[in-house]
Amino acid sequence: MGKIGIFFASDTGRTRLVAKQIARKLGTAADAPVNIGRTTPDAFLAYDKLIVGSPTLGDGELPGQSTGLAQAGWEEFLPQIADTDLGGKTIAIFGLGDQKKYPDEFVDAIGLLHAAFAARGARLVGRWPADGYEFTASQALDGEAFVGLALDQHHQPLLSDGRIDAWLAIVTEAMR
Ligand SMILES: Cc1cc2nc3c(=O)[nH]c(=O)nc-3n(C[C@H](O)[C@H](O)[C@H](O)COP(=O)(O)O)c2cc1C
Repeated sequence: MGKIGIFFASDTGRTRLVAKQIARKLGTAADAPVNIGRTTPDAFLAYDKLIVGSPTLGDGELPGQSTGLAQAGWEEFLPQIADTDLGGKTIAIFGLGDQKKYPDEFVDAIGLLHAAFAARGARLVGRWPADGYEFTASQALDGEAFVGLALDQHHQPLLSDGRIDAWLAIVTEAMR
C-alpha cells in the first residue's frame, strides 16, 4: 500500500500546523507534509493517495501571489498540472477559513481545489457535513455537505481535533 502524500499552502501557518497534525495522526501511513510552493509536479504526482490543504485568502481565493503569499501557492501550482490526467489518484481536501469575517465565501478554496482536481479526473473523497458552522455561502458546498473538511481556527479551534479525527476515519477508509 502506497503512502499518503500531504501537500498544503499556508499564509500565517495555521494550515501548515493542521497538515502536521494530520501527518502525526496518520503515522507511518503518510509522509511528512510538503509546502506546495516548494515542490514540483513530479513530487506531487508520485502519490496515488493525497491529502491537500489550503486556507481561503483574498476574496474567496486560492493562496498565491495574487493574495499576497510570500511564496508560490495553489494558484501557481495548479496551472503546472493543467494538462495532467489525475485518473487513478484519490484526493481528500481540507481547508481553513473564518466563518464570521468571511460568511459569504467561507472556505471557498476547498471548492476551488475540488473543481480543479475533479476536472483532471481525480477521485475526490472526504465530504464533510456543513452542520455546526454559521455562514451564508460557500463554494465548498455541494448540497448539504462540504466537498472537504472545513476548519475554523479563529472561532471553533476546540472543535478541530475531533473533526480531524472523524474526517480521517472517512478518508482512510475511502483510500484503502
Ligand atoms: C486577507 C485575508 C483574506 C481571507 N479571506 C477569506 C475568505 O474569503 N474566506 C474564508 O473562509 N477565510 C478567509 N480568510 C481567513 C483565513 O482563511 C484564515 O485566517 C486561515 O486560518 C489562514 O490560514 P493560514 O494561517 O494557513 O494562512 C482570509 C484571511 C485573510 C488574512
